[in-house]
Amino acid sequence: MKEDVLAILKESQSHVSGEKMSEQLACSRTAIWKAISQLKKEGYPIEAQRNLGYKLTDFDLLNERELALIAPEYKIHYIEQTGSTQQVAMQLLADGADTNTVVVAGTQTSGRGRLGRVWQSEKYTTVSMSMIIKPTITLQHAPKLTLVAAVAVARALSKYADVSIKWPNDILINGKKVCGILTELQADPDRIKAVIIGIGINVNNAVFDESLEDRATSLAQEAKQSIPRVNVIERVLTEWTQMYALFESDGFTVLKPLWEAYATSIGATIRVRSEQETLVCTLLGITDDGYLRVQREGGEETLIISGDIDL
Ligand code: BTN
Repeated sequence: MKEDVLAILKESQSHVSGEKMSEQLACSRTAIWKAISQLKKEGYPIEAQRNLGYKLTDFDLLNERELALIAPEYKIHYIEQTGSTQQVAMQLLADGADTNTVVVAGTQTSGRGRLGRVWQSEKYTTVSMSMIIKPTITLQHAPKLTLVAAVAVARALSKYADVSIKWPNDILINGKKVCGILTELQADPDRIKAVIIGIGINVNNAVFDESLEDRATSLAQEAKQSIPRVNVIERVLTEWTQMYALFESDGFTVLKPLWEAYATSIGATIRVRSEQETLVCTLLGITDDGYLRVQREGGEETLIISGDIDL
């Protein structure tokens, strides 16, 4: 009953009367009232107005219960506020967490980015999540997981706007970054123990700091509507489940063309900053191992294992 009442409230943009709900659910008004009281006790912000009925006042509900409903095959931990979900995931791993454990934060105060950078997450508007995976692949194949995650997120976000992937795993809309992915490994010399895939998505950010304004965007800015974060997380986990299953059964060769179909600027001149050098070159694609293939100005082909692309 409680779930049915909640579903009606979530679907409605305006107030719904107790009478209407009792008719719809073929139950008494008292049963509706009881369900509403329970939901309020559980923390759902429900406004009651005389003559109008009930309304959920927060369109962007994010809590452990909502998250458990979207992906029962994952063990999702919700934390209202934390420094970094990567850090929390690492602690859970140390405490024995299993594969498919996910950490989601309502807000993240010291997010980590790739290459030791800071990742800014605006309060209560972004998705900050870290997935613990225990894959049965060798260390050499680990970089591919990042690309599999990028394909999954690109597919998930393409519902809201036209997305592209900038190697290795930035998701862009109209050339601006909407999502970053950070993959961290725990491994013995010969074996991966676990991988933590951290995903940060700008969902309902209305404005960005001056320093990011030209380079960052949000789903809401691009789709011109606010989006419940739980829906975005649901899409990401659904796509991840599918893409990872494909990777496990058929390997990266099936995923590679999907990644390349989203890739920005194949055939274009780009600048790549790697640890060794900065080079201007033509982007050719990726290898079966997930490395970047570029052609230098002299014609020589080079593989880039780690670095950044400037478009
Ligand atoms: C990047 O583009 O540099 C990667 C950014 C990754 C950010 C996410 S947000 C969730 C998870 N927790 C972190 O501290 N970082 C990742």
